Amino acid sequence: PASTTEPPHGALAVGGVPLAEIADRFGTPVYVLDEAEVRDRCRTYRDAFPDAEVLYAAKAFLCRAMAHWVDEEGFGLDVCSAGELELAVTTGFPPERIVLHGNAKSPRDLDTALRLGVGRIVIDSPAEIARLAAAVGPDGHQKVMVRVVPGVSAGGHEKIRTGTDDQKFGLSVSDGYAQHAIARILDQPQLELTGLHCHLGSQITSVKPYLVAVRRLVGLMSRLYEQHGLVLPELDLGGGHGIAYRPGEEALDLTALARKVRAELADACATAGLPVPRLIIEPGRAIAGPAGIAVYHVLSVKHTGDTVFVAVDGGMSDNPRPALYGVRYAPRLVGRPSTAHRTRVTVVGRHCEAGDILAADVDLPADARPGDLLAVPVAGAYQLSMASGYNLVGRPPVVAVRDGIARLLVRRESLADIRGRDVGL
Ligand code: LLP
Repeated sequence: PASTTEPPHGALAVGGVPLAEIADRFGTPVYVLDEAEVRDRCRTYRDAFPDAEVLYAAKAFLCRAMAHWVDEEGFGLDVCSAGELELAVTTGFPPERIVLHGNAKSPRDLDTALRLGVGRIVIDSPAEIARLAAAVGPDGHQKVMVRVVPGVSAGGHEKIRTGTDDQKFGLSVSDGYAQHAIARILDQPQLELTGLHCHLGSQITSVKPYLVAVRRLVGLMSRLYEQHGLVLPELDLGGGHGIAYRPGEEALDLTALARKVRAELADACATAGLPVPRLIIEPGRAIAGPAGIAVYHVLSVKHTGDTVFVAVDGGMSDNPRPALYGVRYAPRLVGRPSTAHRTRVTVVGRHCEAGDILAADVDLPADARPGDLLAVPVAGAYQLSMASGYNLVGRPPVVAVRDGIARLLVRRESLADIRGRDVGL
């Protein structure tokens, strides 16, 4: 798997297909998704969390095949828009195993969710309660959870930390907003509150924050029991499980997470005199990230000042993560063997700004030259799903590999696609 072994510089195959062959056949940039790796990662979760409900967080990356694979692996789905929801349901994903999230769900999101019959909707603001109750109607019925802010700071970057009161998601427990919202939900007979939800942040590599969150959420459940006699059957701890982007980096230990969360939950519930709720988790990155690899062509190698710039035919429009979060990748030269010594370079994209850097200060073979292929491993999560239309270069295709066979899942965005949406003048 891309996460644990350092792919060599030189010929590299994924899912039994040489990347050079994929580049030839589908062009570059291209995103390659290893189906076996996605399925293996799902099974790792099933083994570690046999009693939990595991939802794949679609925001990490979604296409119809991905929805199909995680469905076959017995996962549910976490979606946060009508777009993600409709794509999944029209692929045959069972709507009752889908949970709708979002801090600002649009009328279209809510209407689509009710029309397609999603399993649960996670309430994230007071305004949503009345809106949802009205949309469900007095004779309707909808299961909901409430997203609460447990006051736990965790996550790989400030922009992806969501466990504290100074960010937009969820309802604060420390200020009593969550408790107030819950009382209002209980007044709506058509809304059935099944549990509390929290999501601490993303790219978390330690188990500890999850244990603190469990304590705090069970604390709230205990107060809700005292005040309302309410016993909630579910507890959703969100996702956020960190992965290794470069050789030597630590990923979150899922076995330890499962074991310790289970123990903490059992202990906290015993202390509170509550039955243990069914655990729900929502990993996205840890399923899709290591299963993806981005492949580019090198277009130029340029020496300026002290830096060697290796420029490729993609960049921040297909991977905005280095620019947004300063994350670091370990690109490899692929497609031809090279015995040249390593030299320090900065891999940049083709976009019209100096911040379009894919990987600063990385070691590549010194004979890297235009026409070479460059692969960026661990590219399956939050790259294409956050791709933009910057400079109208068109979004790359997604190719699945399995057992030596490559097949196109999502085609490249063509110039005709781009022109086709532009209906003015
Ligand atoms: N559940 C909820 C409610 C979420 O908001 C998220 C991610 C997840 C689950 C899945 O988290 P994961 O297991 O993938 O960490 N664009 C950023 C990551 C943003 C994560 C947003 N929410 C990045 O590229 O690092």
